[in-house]
Amino acid sequence: MCRHLAYLGPPVPLRRLLVDPPGGLYEQSWRPRRQRHGTVNADGFGVGWYPEPYPHLPRQAEGAGGTGAAGGGRRGGTDGAAGSTGPAARPAGPDAPAGLVGSSAPAALAEPPGDDGFPLPARYRRALPVWADQNFGELARTIRSGAVLAAVRSATEGTTPDESAAAPFRDGRWLFSHNGAVADWTRLPTTLTPAELLALEAHSDSALLWATVGRRLRQGEAPGSALAGVVREVAAARPTARLNFLLTDGRCIAATAWGDTLWYRFRPGAVVVASEPDDVLGDGLGPWQEVPDRSLLLATTDGVRVLALRPERKDTLMSRTDRFTLDDRLPAGYFTDTLHSDVRQGLGTAPRTLPPKWFYDKRGSDLFEQITTLPEYYPTRAEHEILVRRAPEIATLTRAATLIELGSGSSRKTRLLLDALTAGGTLQRYAPLDVSAAALEEAGRAVCRDYPGLTVTATVADFESGIPLSDEPGPRLLAFLGSTVGNLDREQRADFFRMLARTLSGDDVLLLGADLVKDPQVLVRAYDDAAGVTAEFDRNVLHVLNRELGADFDPDAFAHVAVWNAEFERMEMHLRARSAQTVKIPDLDLTLDLAEGEDLRTEISCKFRRESLTAELKEGGFTVRHWWTDEAARFALLLAVPN
Ligand code: AVJ
Repeated sequence: MCRHLAYLGPPVPLRRLLVDPPGGLYEQSWRPRRQRHGTVNADGFGVGWYPEPYPHLPRQAEGAGGTGAAGGGRRGGTDGAAGSTGPAARPAGPDAPAGLVGSSAPAALAEPPGDDGFPLPARYRRALPVWADQNFGELARTIRSGAVLAAVRSATEGTTPDESAAAPFRDGRWLFSHNGAVADWTRLPTTLTPAELLALEAHSDSALLWATVGRRLRQGEAPGSALAGVVREVAAARPTARLNFLLTDGRCIAATAWGDTLWYRFRPGAVVVASEPDDVLGDGLGPWQEVPDRSLLLATTDGVRVLALRPERKDTLMSRTDRFTLDDRLPAGYFTDTLHSDVRQGLGTAPRTLPPKWFYDKRGSDLFEQITTLPEYYPTRAEHEILVRRAPEIATLTRAATLIELGSGSSRKTRLLLDALTAGGTLQRYAPLDVSAAALEEAGRAVCRDYPGLTVTATVADFESGIPLSDEPGPRLLAFLGSTVGNLDREQRADFFRMLARTLSGDDVLLLGADLVKDPQVLVRAYDDAAGVTAEFDRNVLHVLNRELGADFDPDAFAHVAVWNAEFERMEMHLRARSAQTVKIPDLDLTLDLAEGEDLRTEISCKFRRESLTAELKEGGFTVRHWWTDEAARFALLLAVPN
């Protein structure tokens, strides 16, 4: 067992972090206080630190390293090593200093290539107890860094005894440490290739785990997701495994608590994550917080998030008929109650509005299906185009075990995802949510029939207020397609994204479809088609109110109007009274006096821009990792992870 620590913040001498603090990492090498397994950590130690410019700090105007031009040009350039360790889809960091690259310095002294613009960390590792190393004190006194990962080691029997087995391990810009043990690790099932296995830096469980994590990072997986994925995989094969991981690229820290202790302290601008707290007080950082076991921690100098890690739960093999379940989570009287309050609130006062969800009775749903095939209504086809092209990538990036779909409706687009995810071999479950039990029943049973390996758990729910989910196998991919998110205004979206971020854990992913801002003429035609289908769809809400509330709207007395609202960048559908009229809604004891030309607004359909939607998601707790559009850039599909 071991102890480890990572730090991001203003540059400090290593000593201040590692040696000086009473009860700190140095002392923990002979007297750990909270360690759950083992006694002393005297089999080695290591520290890795990042040189300037520190990735988590705003870039200095003039770095010590000169032009920085070489950093940008390194990707896939002369440095084979950087090419193989630098995943493609990463935010670019500040350029690394040019240093000695290309000079005639001996190879061992040449500045290593940067990793996708990140400065590469340096390491100092020994196979001695840290207190027995005469040199460390001097180094620790004089080396300063703003991004550090350090560990003291207690070796597991049968592992490499030399310094190559001491953390931190490194791959490109990443530093990694494992505090824990995996029983019988030499026989752990692995998907690493013989070449990858032969390249292990040491003969130890930690080196094997690092290679497994590192491979996921190279494939473009987010750090939290990579750690969670490996914990899940290894814990499934070795339920007693202890898997406290610590990972950093100098910009963010990801860590797991799985079998041993984990703590953190934070203030805006600085964060420490460590196996156990030291006794330092009054240095401006917040109090030590304990991370519950079976958690994933994600930290930057902006904040810390702790997410529950669910163990992998293989679905028990169900009989054919049991593969489909329908769980009705709507409160009794939901339809009547919400319809009553929606209509009373929306129509009672001007400007008069109705929420778009009341379009979708059987007739409304059929009309919407027709809309999706109209020549003017491009969003469905554009999104379909993106999905055809990107579904395989989505499957590889997410490795989802569960596909959750909000507002599933008919499931033509869903099938593209289901196909890719079943082909990828990871999918076990499809979990559609909708307010319509009938739609779920029909679509869910059809999916069950066509995907024999899949469990379908359908939930009848109004997901705007919350998503009743819990025990699906992870990672989960939550899809919200069709730009239905555009029906929410900015404020509603902020609440909605925050709710989603709370619902999802570290290795879950959000797949969101969003229609983009474009020529208003194109938009108006899409919402006011020549065949008049959208007009009929719009008026359908009046049929619904007549039937459900005994109202006496004359749908033909209203004109369908599609309006581009430039201020809010959204399409609106209005029903405009062709003449002055009085409408009675007996179930609500309501009488509406409508003036000629007065509008009922029946739908908003916001259109998005990349930058503002990315910022909204960030605010709500998500980082956008991928943004794909159709060829004509009319529509976007994005993958975002909880941050
Ligand atoms: C299903 C809500 C995304 O806003 O474009 C289609 C509904 N309204 N034509 C949209 C709709 C008018 C659609 N959403």
